[in-house]
Amino acid sequence: MRSIRFLPIVFWLPLHVAALCYFPDRKTVPNQDTPCSTEGNSTCCGQGFACMSNNICKLTKYVKNPGPAQDYLRGSCTDPTWKDPNCPSFCASAVDGDKMDGGMGLRKCEGSDLDAYFCLNTETEGMSNSEVCSNSDLFITFQGEKPQ
Ligand SMILES: *[C@@H]1O[C@H](CO)[C@@H](O)[C@H](O)[C@H]1NC(C)=O
Repeated sequence: MRSIRFLPIVFWLPLHVAALCYFPDRKTVPNQDTPCSTEGNSTCCGQGFACMSNNICKLTKYVKNPGPAQDYLRGSCTDPTWKDPNCPSFCASAVDGDKMDGGMGLRKCEGSDLDAYFCLNTETEGMSNSEVCSNSDLFITFQGEKPQ
């Protein structure tokens, strides 16, 4: 019976190491997110996702069983307060209906000259790409990415 008692400790250790990233609710720790950078605070993305320089996590072919996952996600952050500028500054607003205890899907604005994305939250739910992407209150663009 003794070995059974010791088992939980074996599994607890890796979880503790992974507890470097937090969702915006400041307490939920994603199971498998990894910091994009080891310097200072950093955005964290899930296994198989690519870290983009604008702090979006991008789906790659290395994601096992992506299911209905979006191509772009707002992941987690090593700063539990989410105040650090290296945390994602988008899709983390409870008022807009963003999920605070998990990742958030984003969609890219199609047919636009802007490199723009929008959060798949209660605000944009049921709206078409062009409806959202013609309303600058609803999409985000990133510094350094020039519109034409
Ligand atoms: C992360 O951010 C928090 C709060 O914004 C700060 O207190 C902490 O020192 C930062 N950590 C690193 C490693 O920069």
